[in-house]
Amino acid sequence: MSEAIEALRVSLPRLRARLDALAEIGAIAGGGCARLALTDDDRRGRDLVVTWMRDLGLRVDVDEIGNVVGTWPPDGSGAPVLTGSHIDTVATGGRFDGTLGVLAGLEVIETVIGAGVELARPIAVAFFTDEEGSRFAPDMLGSLVFAGGLALEEALPIRAIDGAVLGEELVRIGYAGPEPCPALAPRAYVELHIEQGPVLEAEGVTIGAVTGVQGISWTELTVTGQSNHAGTTPMSMRHDAGYSAAAITEFVRRLATELGPPQVATVGRIELHPNLVNVVAARATLTVDLRNTDATVLARAEERLRAFCADLARTEGVAITSRALARFDPVDFDARVIALVEEVAADHGHSTRRMPSGAGHDAQMLARICPAGMVFVPSAKGISHNPAEHTDDVDLEAGANVLLHVLLRLATR
Ligand code: HGY
Ligand code: MN
Ligand code: MN
Repeated sequence: MSEAIEALRVSLPRLRARLDALAEIGAIAGGGCARLALTDDDRRGRDLVVTWMRDLGLRVDVDEIGNVVGTWPPDGSGAPVLTGSHIDTVATGGRFDGTLGVLAGLEVIETVIGAGVELARPIAVAFFTDEEGSRFAPDMLGSLVFAGGLALEEALPIRAIDGAVLGEELVRIGYAGPEPCPALAPRAYVELHIEQGPVLEAEGVTIGAVTGVQGISWTELTVTGQSNHAGTTPMSMRHDAGYSAAAITEFVRRLATELGPPQVATVGRIELHPNLVNVVAARATLTVDLRNTDATVLARAEERLRAFCADLARTEGVAITSRALARFDPVDFDARVIALVEEVAADHGHSTRRMPSGAGHDAQMLARICPAGMVFVPSAKGISHNPAEHTDDVDLEAGANVLLHVLLRLATR
């Protein structure tokens, strides 16, 4: 590539300004964001990013599941080099999870346009619907449909934890688009994302060349016991859904400890009914999130959970049913993309290390249809899904410049 192109760099002030402007939408105390998928705040965030895309002259396409792709040049044809991520957040989200990948992608394209770079193929930036999966499971739902891993007609009827129907919410917020799913495969997909874990910061490394994503298993368990009087019911007569949910929660922690790293296990949501101080709970609904880079150990963890629940149902005299919310095997990224991320990081003088992703990402779905990879930058104290989520400007800039030159090499050769 020419020296002029090699010398190109993103504008950190422009990137920061957009990150901060988007963070104003659904802002919560502590500097974070709450823009659950397909809520009005998600719509406002989508509208803002679409406005930025249009102001830059990108062609903006919205597909049937609400994924949005901005392409340069607008009349570009052929499979684009694609970047992006998500702008929906969890309810206690930070301002970088997902948004960094989308807005750094936009910044890359603005830099390319400003420099008048001759591209061999179009370059595009996307934000995918419902990456978090907190409101509508599974996670990475939009990119899964984009990649053909879930049929549109199976996705549209999915019901949220608040009862809303996905297809109806898409129409309500004006993002039920015309572009068909699944999409045509991009030439390649590279996503910039904060690590959301402690590794890069602990090792003093700036750039993560992500090798893949660990397997994810989400299960919703419903425990049906018997409501009874908290004062008069002898302990031997109880069929206590609240106790059962606590027992399952304790078990998954013990299971992760027994299996050892990288096994992780989380009970993130528990709802009791009737949820009253003096009533033995009749029903508990809880979620179990199990993850591991090793598919065999993950399957073993799932089997141990099933066996524990069967035992508990017998001893406590409750019924326990389960519903799979998400199940994705571990994914390996493309070796050439991983090597390209490392090469560009080294060319820019950044320390780098290969690592798997503990979090799920849209890139794991794009990897089904094209060469895919990710660039990680450090998360302060390894904190994420928390308003305190932070990445230093110097690392934001480093990540965005590595993304710029990875995409330039893919789009100009
Ligand atoms: O759950 C995840 O790993 C991602 O934040 N959706
Ligand atoms: Mn994310
Ligand atoms: Mn997230």
